[in-house]
Amino acid sequence: MSIITEKTITKEVLGSSSFPSNEVMLDLKKLKKVYPTPKGDYVVLEDLDLQIRKEEFVTIIGHSGCGKTTMLSMIAGLNPISGGNIAVLGKNISGPGPDRGVIFQAPSLMPWMTSLENVMLGVNQVFPHGTKSQRTDIAKYYLQKVGLEDSFHKKAAELSQGMQQRVGIARAFAIKPKVLLLDEPFGMLDSLTRGELQDILIEIWNKEKITAVMITHDVDEAIFLADRVVMMTSGPRAKIGDILDINFERPRTRKSVLEHDDYYAYRKHLIDFLEH
Ligand SMILES: Nc1ncnc2c1ncn2[C@@H]1O[C@H](COP(=O)(O)OP(=O)(O)OP(=O)(O)O)[C@@H](O)[C@H]1O
Ligand SMILES: [Mg+2]
Repeated sequence: MSIITEKTITKEVLGSSSFPSNEVMLDLKKLKKVYPTPKGDYVVLEDLDLQIRKEEFVTIIGHSGCGKTTMLSMIAGLNPISGGNIAVLGKNISGPGPDRGVIFQAPSLMPWMTSLENVMLGVNQVFPHGTKSQRTDIAKYYLQKVGLEDSFHKKAAELSQGMQQRVGIARAFAIKPKVLLLDEPFGMLDSLTRGELQDILIEIWNKEKITAVMITHDVDEAIFLADRVVMMTSGPRAKIGDILDINFERPRTRKSVLEHDDYYAYRKHLIDFLEH
């Protein structure tokens, strides 16, 4: 265990900005986003460069309105790119695809369908050639992973917010994406449910060996989950301001993280960034 000084953090930051191409899952180069507004063009993001490694868990923090959701929705292929490019495994994206799964703050389920039917919607699109029972097995497997084994046949409208978000997580994992994109997925949940779903998320992420990019407003959540915390500058023309490597061993428990000598140095680094 070591006390991290500002100096060592800076060195780590510089060291983590570029990786060998065979290690890179997501590559954002000179990314730009302009929204036309009645008052003229609004440049949200400009010259944003970010590389994310295979199997990495990256959390993104930044002030409200800086462009986090804009960046994530562009990676998802749901929001057109104004300049620069985004590559997945070296190939530029040109829209949404099954290689990228998305989980939003509110899980946009079909309220009249059951948990199982909601997850099946995604599975059917990605595995159209599987038999019905194979597809049902996949959906049930992930619903059981998120603790909904007793709620396969409950309608989404009849589930609590926490349960709905569990369905959202099961649905995203069930399509077996290479990259999972999460936009404040636990923002609306109470802290107990939030902690439980963080653990479930990490467990499945670790098992499936996928790459995760998650926006959060919660500094502690950002540290607990991440291999690296990416800090975005405030807009307009936001870009990556700083990156912090989180060198805690996995699996992590909340207790071990909170008691680690480096925890407060990490926390201070992030809070100092946000306060300037
Ligand atoms: N469709 C749009 N048209 C015009 N401006 C937009 C549009 N979507 C977002 N913006 C603006 O772009 C900026 C970035 O928005 P974005 O939702 O990406 O921020 P954010 O970092 O996700 O914020 P929050 O933390 O509050 O979710 C904001 O100023 C927002 O008003
Ligand atoms: Mg947002």
